[in-house]
Amino acid sequence: MTGSDDASMASGYARYLAAKTTVDDRALNRHVLAELRRLMPAGAPRVLEVGAGLGTMVARLMDWGAVGAGEYILLDADRHLLDCSGQWLRDWAAARGLRSDLLPDGVQVGDLRVRLVHAELGGYLEAGHGALADVLIANAVLDLVDVPAVLPGLLRLLVPGGVYWFTINYDGESIFMPGHPHDGKVMQAYHRDMDERIRFGRPAGDSRTGRRLFHNLRAAGAPALAAGSSDWVVSAGPDGNYPGDEAYFLGSILSTIRSALRSRQAWVEPADLADWLAVRGRQLAAGELVYLAHQLDFVGRSPGLRTARPR
Ligand SMILES: C[S@@+](CC[C@H](N)C(=O)[O-])C[C@H]1O[C@@H](n2cnc3c(N)ncnc32)[C@H](O)[C@@H]1O
Repeated sequence: MTGSDDASMASGYARYLAAKTTVDDRALNRHVLAELRRLMPAGAPRVLEVGAGLGTMVARLMDWGAVGAGEYILLDADRHLLDCSGQWLRDWAAARGLRSDLLPDGVQVGDLRVRLVHAELGGYLEAGHGALADVLIANAVLDLVDVPAVLPGLLRLLVPGGVYWFTINYDGESIFMPGHPHDGKVMQAYHRDMDERIRFGRPAGDSRTGRRLFHNLRAAGAPALAAGSSDWVVSAGPDGNYPGDEAYFLGSILSTIRSALRSRQAWVEPADLADWLAVRGRQLAAGELVYLAHQLDFVGRSPGLRTARPR
C-alpha cells in the first residue's frame, strides 16, 4: 500500500466516524446518559476519552449540554484521525457560532480546552500517566481491546470515585434484513474473527463485550450504576434515502465484514461471501437494507471514594 492509499483509507475512516454520529445519537441509552449527567462533577472537570477517533463525542456532549468547560482529552492510536479532528472540531464549532482557537496541542472550543493525545491504549497504560481524570469515556472502543486485561488500568486513570461512561459496546448480534441464506455463516465467521483478532500485538476484541462488561466491571471493583441497550438501528426513510451520511456508514460496515473475512476462507466459502456482499450491496443501493447491531452502555464509578473529588 502506498502512502497516499494509506491517507485516503484513513480519510475514509474519518468519514465513516462522522457518518456514524447520527447513528450513535439515536442509539446512546438515555437512561444511562441521565445517570452520567447526575454523576458528572460540577465546574470544569477533566474528561479523558480513549479511542476518541475524530472527536464526535466531545461535540455531541457539548451539543447536549453535558460538557461545557474544563479539559477534554481525545486519546487515539491513529495520528491521522487526530490530525483530522482539530479541523473537524473547528468546523463543527463554526457551524454553531462557537468560538474556537487552535492550541499547540489541540483546540479551545468556548470554555473547553480539547487536547489531542496520540497513544496506543495498552502502551499508554503501561507507561504510566500524568494527572488523573474526573470522567473517563470510551465509545465503540472496548470491543476492540482485551477488556479483562485493560479495564483495571483504565479505571486507574480516574480519580478515586471518578465517573466512567462506556458506551456502544458490541454484544454478539448483527441483523441484516431482508434475510439471506448465508447470514448465519457470515455472522458466525465475523464474530469468530472479532474474538481472535490481534492488534498492536495484543488480543483486540470480543464479540460479546457488552454482556461480559457486567461481570468485568464488578470484578474490577466498579460495578455499573446503570446499564442499558444502545442498539444501532439503520434503515432508509419512506423516500428510500438513508438519513445523513448513513448509506456511507452501511457501506463501511459491509467493507469491514469483507476485509475481516477475505482471508478466512476456511470459515466462509469465498463464493458465499461474495454472493452475500453483492446482495447486501444491491439492497443498500436500493434503500432496502436494514441493519441492527445489539450494543450496551454502562455508567459507574471507579473504585475508591463514593464521590468524585470536590471542586
Ligand atoms: C470504532 S472507532 C470509535 C471512535 C470514536 N470513539 C467514535 O465513536 O466515533 C475506534 C477508535 O479506537 C481507536 N483504537 C482502537 N484500538 C486502540 C488502542 N489500542 N489504543 C488507542 N486507540 C485505539 C481507533 O483508532 C479508532 O479511532
